[in-house]
Amino acid sequence: MSASANSIVILTGAGISAESGIDTFRSAGGLWEQHRVEDVATPEGFARDPHLVLGFYDMRRAALAGVEPNPAHVALARLEREFAGELLLVTQNVDDLHERGGAARVLHMHGELKSALCSACGMRSRWEAPLIDRPPCPVCQARHLRPDVVWFGEMPYRMETIYAALETCDLFVSIGTSGAVYPAAGFVAEARANGARTLELNLEPSEGSRLFHESRLGPASALVPAWVEEVLSRETSG
Ligand code: OAD
Repeated sequence: MSASANSIVILTGAGISAESGIDTFRSAGGLWEQHRVEDVATPEGFARDPHLVLGFYDMRRAALAGVEPNPAHVALARLEREFAGELLLVTQNVDDLHERGGAARVLHMHGELKSALCSACGMRSRWEAPLIDRPPCPVCQARHLRPDVVWFGEMPYRMETIYAALETCDLFVSIGTSGAVYPAAGFVAEARANGARTLELNLEPSEGSRLFHESRLGPASALVPAWVEEVLSRETSG
């Protein structure tokens, strides 16, 4: 990547949090080997067995207390602070490690573990406690809270904002995602069709790897800080 960028869109996935100790989805032993997607990540699964689904997300929310952001999260927070151009940080992750690494403006397109969505009034509330005992919604008091996580068959958050940024960015960077789940998996093609350079930072080539102008393979904790350093030093030297 020799040219400097004025406007960057970054997409992160489970791989950026792997070295913090959060399981990815599709690796050997990953979350989707331990649980059936249809059971715990669809509206139908929730309707069938709410107890199972609430327990699954309560467990994942509670597990956040035992993990810490890694150098990749911290480096992206530094980029957010120091990059003079436009930056949109989009994550598919429902953990809070970008924020705990210091990032202030993170778009969680698949929702967040530390948020609850009320199926009765539609309000989203910050949430730290378990949901399994069906606590009342802080807004309308109905006992219809669910994890504020986007399930298969549901629309991810803030798609208009994301597509608007993909239209105008000159660099799109994908970090730690397998490229298996749409619409996020389609962002690279969208950005590229709009003329952006595309860079992938991942442990292994993702499913859409050939759509990237450049792929750097390795652990995010090493690749991301090195790339951030490059971007910022190019800014000061250019
Ligand atoms: P995946 O588990 O599908 O992919 C994780 C990617 O991270 C893989 O390509 C790994 O090679 C890579 N990886 C693993 N460790 C890494 C490391 N230390 N450094 C860099 N890369 C590493 O996770 P996602 O692509 O995030 O959606 O999955 C996308 C969506 O599928 C999730 O948001 C979730 C899931 O179903 C919903 O639940 C709606």
